[in-house]
Amino acid sequence: MFLTLEIDPRRVKGVRDPMLYGHFLEHFHRQVYGGVFDPGNPLSDEDGFRTDVIEAMKKIRVPVIRWPGGCFVSTYHWTDGVGKERTPVFDKTWRVEDPNTFGTDEFVKLCRKIGCEPYICTNAGTGSIEEMSDWVEYCNLPSEGRFARMRIANGALEPYRVKYWSVGNENYGHWELGAKSAGEWARLVGEAAKLMLHVDPAIELSAAALADLDWTYGLLKNCGQYLKWISLHQYWDMMPEKHEPADYEAAMAYTDRIDRSVEIARGMLTSLGLENKISIAFDEWNLRSWHHPRVHSFPYGTEKESYLSPRDKNDDNRTYTMADAVFSACFLNAMNRNCDLVRMANFSPLVNTRGAIMTYRDGIVLRSTYHVFDLFANKLGDKVVDLFHPEPAPTWRVKGKDGGEKKVGTLDLLATAWSDRKGIALSAVNKHAQEAAEIVLALPEEGRRATLYTLNGPDKDSCNDIGRNEVGITETDLGLYRKGMKITLPPHSVNVLQIV
Ligand code: AHR
Repeated sequence: MFLTLEIDPRRVKGVRDPMLYGHFLEHFHRQVYGGVFDPGNPLSDEDGFRTDVIEAMKKIRVPVIRWPGGCFVSTYHWTDGVGKERTPVFDKTWRVEDPNTFGTDEFVKLCRKIGCEPYICTNAGTGSIEEMSDWVEYCNLPSEGRFARMRIANGALEPYRVKYWSVGNENYGHWELGAKSAGEWARLVGEAAKLMLHVDPAIELSAAALADLDWTYGLLKNCGQYLKWISLHQYWDMMPEKHEPADYEAAMAYTDRIDRSVEIARGMLTSLGLENKISIAFDEWNLRSWHHPRVHSFPYGTEKESYLSPRDKNDDNRTYTMADAVFSACFLNAMNRNCDLVRMANFSPLVNTRGAIMTYRDGIVLRSTYHVFDLFANKLGDKVVDLFHPEPAPTWRVKGKDGGEKKVGTLDLLATAWSDRKGIALSAVNKHAQEAAEIVLALPEEGRRATLYTLNGPDKDSCNDIGRNEVGITETDLGLYRKGMKITLPPHSVNVLQIV
């Protein structure tokens, strides 16, 4: 059985925004300290940044990094992290001491080394709207006032020109310290936005939103005029309390209606006439949530053994398999299909925890999800184009983590083309655990070179680890494209077919 794909590069659906391949870095466990920032490690540079991590980020062309949280930010005061003297503080969110040796200046320096945009999330939990706008002063005012002078005194003569800012993290959640009601939120965001925009009207502001009318409608009604973005977050396989990753089939069940929250947000924006003014920043997403028991839910852990040590389970590389890669490719395809509205996405997180890169003292492990970003950032065209298949797409019945059965599409496809050259690049995911899939392309032209890039491992549960590289990208020259050419997609694989 095969699927005929009719692709017409002239039927452009939108721009494939590079900002969809962004990342997130939080002061949690080993993401910052021991992750990107590891002074004293022989692999670190003169500023204490891991050069192997930076090179890996440059290879997948990371376009933007959101920092410093996440829940962490809701009790973070940015002035603790700048200046010659850094005072360690007790991080009330994750209940550990933060040395504050990595702060705003280090974050911006890291982004400059990678060549990506800094995106700062502000403290709308215990912080004030003035503290938020002072942070904009510190980063973006050339020299006026005490905070720009503070930045200059700290060695940065030129303003950082941080373009992307968000008000708050998940202030809607009971787990967030300093959580707000919907009414409080709409008012706080409006007042914070005015202050921050008075400091620098050129910044692009986002605010924590939900695919929920009660929370987001008031936000849009009251603050829509100030916002360029609204932020959505989603994790599908929830593991904060129990570290029991969903198996491959259950992970595929989560691909069902993977962009449901975008559909709902689109409806709210459209109902208020804001769909062409406000974009969606899906600025935390991952198949699986992070594991951090006994801090998000009451009663909180008392012994460190009950709430701190279990975080090391996030470093178990065996739990980063083709399921994570296949799901991530489906998510990115879905966001690209919504490229008229979703213009930023941040994988949560980038380094360690459930990130694409895992660091250890002597090197890094490129987990399965890292290679998805390599394919999407480097092998696809800059335009999303139309794709049609006359036959019904194949489906697969899978059992979810809750034991329920779901019918999901076996294939997940996205067609792209380039603005500056002929040809197409097709993102083609075969979710099926056992069966290969065949596609036949019907393109307007023949005679171009066809190359298949396949991300896969020997098994659906293959993973990479220290001294073990089972998952990677293989390149196959398929010769010249001919009408009716059949391409086989292996089971549990992420593929990009280029015909250029
Ligand atoms: O599990 C990590 C947390 O997930 C982030 O800090 C927060 O933004 C989200 O709830």
